[in-house]
Amino acid sequence: MLYTHTCGQLNASDVNKKVTLCGWVASRRDHGKLIFIDLRDRYGITQIVFLPGDSAAIYTKAQELRDEFVVKVRGKVSLRPKGTINPKLSTGEVEVLGLDLEILNPSLTPPFEIKDSIEISEDMRLKYRYLDLRRKSVFDNIILRRNVNKIIRSFLDKNNFIECETPVLTKSTPEGARDYLVPSRVNPGQFYALPQSPQLFKQILMVAGFERYYQITKCFRDEDLRADRQPEFTQLDLEMSFVSEEDIFLLIEQLMQTIFKEAKAIDLKIPFPRMTFQEAQAKYATDKPDLRKELNSEFAFAWIVDFPLFKYNQEEKRWESEHHPFTAPAAEDIDNLEEAPEKVKSRSYDLVLNGVELGSGSIRIHNQQLQERVFNIIGIAKEEAHKRFGFLLEAFQFGAPPHGGFACGLDRLMAILSGESSIREVILFPKNASASCPLSGAPSDVDEGQLKELNITVKVKKEEKR
Ligand code: AMO
Repeated sequence: MLYTHTCGQLNASDVNKKVTLCGWVASRRDHGKLIFIDLRDRYGITQIVFLPGDSAAIYTKAQELRDEFVVKVRGKVSLRPKGTINPKLSTGEVEVLGLDLEILNPSLTPPFEIKDSIEISEDMRLKYRYLDLRRKSVFDNIILRRNVNKIIRSFLDKNNFIECETPVLTKSTPEGARDYLVPSRVNPGQFYALPQSPQLFKQILMVAGFERYYQITKCFRDEDLRADRQPEFTQLDLEMSFVSEEDIFLLIEQLMQTIFKEAKAIDLKIPFPRMTFQEAQAKYATDKPDLRKELNSEFAFAWIVDFPLFKYNQEEKRWESEHHPFTAPAAEDIDNLEEAPEKVKSRSYDLVLNGVELGSGSIRIHNQQLQERVFNIIGIAKEEAHKRFGFLLEAFQFGAPPHGGFACGLDRLMAILSGESSIREVILFPKNASASCPLSGAPSDVDEGQLKELNITVKVKKEEKR
């Protein structure tokens, strides 16, 4: 390592030690005879002092320093003079008297200050996300996310779950949004769809006997963006065999309890309250009620159950799935499927937190004929169903166990845990409101040669593009 200590490490017990620190110049204060540098790395800030007496050359070099220069400083730890101790910093009792200074890389003047509260447009922050991520508040969100991922993995591992990776170049999964399509060069005119969720593959894994699957995975949906929606987002996705709703509720409640306790030292009471879709609509006029006031609680979870299996699409004059078409109907309603689809309840459930839909899931259909009946009601005829989901329907004929699962929107959970109002604050490189990445410039034009290779002609003219 180029350094002996980090910028968040030194305290009074290190006085008189010779140390080497590396980091970014967070600020430089020139007090005539003394130059103070706040040196920053991911661990914290250490104050460095350069005195003209010790070495004129080093002092002169320190005068060149500007914000965000990357430097290596060798020096001696000393106690700060009385009255200059900074209790807000973990290193606030000490400073390092600079004996040697190497400028590892200069920096242009950043377009905004690297401090917690800044007033600049979000696009500017995202264009210079590498600078934005140097801000402690944003960085802390990402670290919290990493901690939560670790807690999730450890909890699910203890509960015998198998972490799996399912394909990203795949077929359409019907979760209600438009697909992102990827052209296949070797199969001209054919396209992969990026998964809206791993729904079909996790069900196939149940047929394969995995019994308990999970994945922290990217999902892709081409839909209008909002504060809690991104075109690519992350789900904690899981599936279990031989379970009822109660098993899934208990598992998710214990998982949330563990996350809140270990990541934020918050005790959650379980079981979470439950209410039916009808009750939620009647009492709160929404299926995502915010129960914080009512429960007098910091965080208010609730399960919403008994959703209808179908909803009627007035525009297209047809039934569609309220959740997704793999959701099982309530056992007592199976006979009424075709006669009275509006009366059929589903075995799906949503988890709501502070008025946000955090996740959803269901007990699935595992019988081929029942699955075909549901497809038929939502207007996917047998032939079409086999074309789109044939591999799942076929798998159902080879000993599919009863199964069910859940997917939690991890970005939404992280935004709430971090106290942020937008999921963009907890994603490293989010897209902006027009689904673009101001940092990389994606999406962008591709060259004619690539299009030709893919047998694609673009109709829209350059000037018509936004
Ligand atoms: P669903 O479509 O409800 O269910 O998605 C599960 C959770 O994913 C999150 N989410 C999103 N987060 C950010 N941006 C988006 N565009 C976005 N879309 C969804 C939400 C949501 O509750 N396969 C089923 C789950 C299952 O049945 O097991 C599914 O994907 O927090």
